[in-house]
Amino acid sequence: MATTQVKIHAEDLSKVPAALERIPEPTILVIFGASGDLTKRKLLPALFHLEQVNLLPKEFAIVGVARRTLGDEFAADMREGVVEFGDAAKDDPRLDAFIRKVHYFAMNFDDPAGYIGLDAELDRIAKEAGIGGNRLFYLATAPDYFTEIVENLGAHGMATPESGTVHVVIEKPFGHDLDSAKELNRRVNAVFEEKQVFRIDHYLGKETVQNILVFRFGNGIFEPIWNRNYIDNVQITAAETLGVEGRGPFYEKAGALRDVVQNHVMELLSFVAMEPPVSFEAESVRREKLKAWQAIPAIPIKHAVRGQYGPGKVDGVMVKGYREEDRVSPESGTETFAAVRLEIDNWRWAGVPFYLRAGKRLKKRATEISIQFKQPPLMLFNRSLHGGPCQEIEPNVITMRIQPDEGISLRFGAKVPSTQNISICPVNMDFDYSSAFGKSSANGYERLLLDAMLGDQTLFAHRDGVETTWALYTPILEAWAAKTPDVFPNYFAGSWGPDCAEHMMEQENRAWRKL
Ligand code: BG6
Repeated sequence: MATTQVKIHAEDLSKVPAALERIPEPTILVIFGASGDLTKRKLLPALFHLEQVNLLPKEFAIVGVARRTLGDEFAADMREGVVEFGDAAKDDPRLDAFIRKVHYFAMNFDDPAGYIGLDAELDRIAKEAGIGGNRLFYLATAPDYFTEIVENLGAHGMATPESGTVHVVIEKPFGHDLDSAKELNRRVNAVFEEKQVFRIDHYLGKETVQNILVFRFGNGIFEPIWNRNYIDNVQITAAETLGVEGRGPFYEKAGALRDVVQNHVMELLSFVAMEPPVSFEAESVRREKLKAWQAIPAIPIKHAVRGQYGPGKVDGVMVKGYREEDRVSPESGTETFAAVRLEIDNWRWAGVPFYLRAGKRLKKRATEISIQFKQPPLMLFNRSLHGGPCQEIEPNVITMRIQPDEGISLRFGAKVPSTQNISICPVNMDFDYSSAFGKSSANGYERLLLDAMLGDQTLFAHRDGVETTWALYTPILEAWAAKTPDVFPNYFAGSWGPDCAEHMMEQENRAWRKL
């Protein structure tokens, strides 16, 4: 049946009170693994955006640390990154001044002498720029180096300075199963106090993700129906059209469940499912997220299915299968798609299934959450009227589009204009971020970098949360590792994933929302 759109516009933005600007104290940001893609594509463009909107302290410096001897090339490369990935104008006068704050230090992460040299260099730069003792260490290296760097920082007195604050940001993956995550937490917390540790999940920096909490707790009308009495099921999809993009060796050891479900998708789930926190302070928010995860009973292995893409057409272009990708085993058993059904056994959610799916090389790029409501108690319009055929009425759905086409829609049934009979057509009330607020260039890292400098941990993962989500998925990962499915590859690139994911829903007389 045809769908009608009803657009919604935000009020005049000039009437929205400006938020209090929070500018961090003078800080030196030290990025380990700075020659990798993340620094150039995400971190530097994000920092420059912060500079453009005057949210960086005047006394500020960035020090890239990596093994290669690079010198001035590093700053030049970062400049290119800001222009290419941050949409900055090449001749923006602020860009030159910003790039002058970028430094580089070459060292091996396992070389103790390197840390002594780095410490002295940081002191020198800080003195020159009038920064004082605040340091933010950002670990953007391969995960194998995390503990080495942290322990060396500790051993060289760099984790607890005499003046100022030291924070450490740790990129994902934070462990690869429960035991490794516990071990990593133990070693990190042996050097840094938990209040110094910022485990980053870039999904929490996305506006649309933070807006889940505003939608639920900043409005009066949704929360009363946000429970098992009204909601039939919740679906969370993180679909990508991209493949592994040259990251074969990393992805071979990761797979979709580790790479996206255990972290990004579970973060989305926690925002949808958590109870209202007593305040929007880190401790309260993180406590409520943890309680939601802790209420999830062990996921039976039959409620987790996996897939791997074979060749196919994505956006009209023929692409290779996963096993043909660069540096991927031709017999690989790594899943590029995972779907899971779980429940949250608490007062609010008992009996409501949550279906999660994530995959690469799917038909469309779309990350979204859909809240599917129960049918009305009485099907007044589902009867034959004037002898006409019975009608299937679609349930109400609230869809939060995390990306792209960021927005929220509410689907409901409306009467099709007619003098003859009552016929119902599903329509969408649609809130679209870009038409309401204009296009945002934020990549998620802006907010998170700023918060890490300010010492605000609200949007960062806590050690208990990380261990709880790993505890849920480790048994599935172990069972999957024990046997490569004979049917791999089991979905075509450019499709919606393997049949087993569809069957999982059919068995419960449900279907994945069509995206
Ligand atoms: C990363 C994963 O954490 O998230 C990638 O390692 C994935 O494999 C990416 O592509 C998705 O992020 P986004 O912001 O593009 O949805």
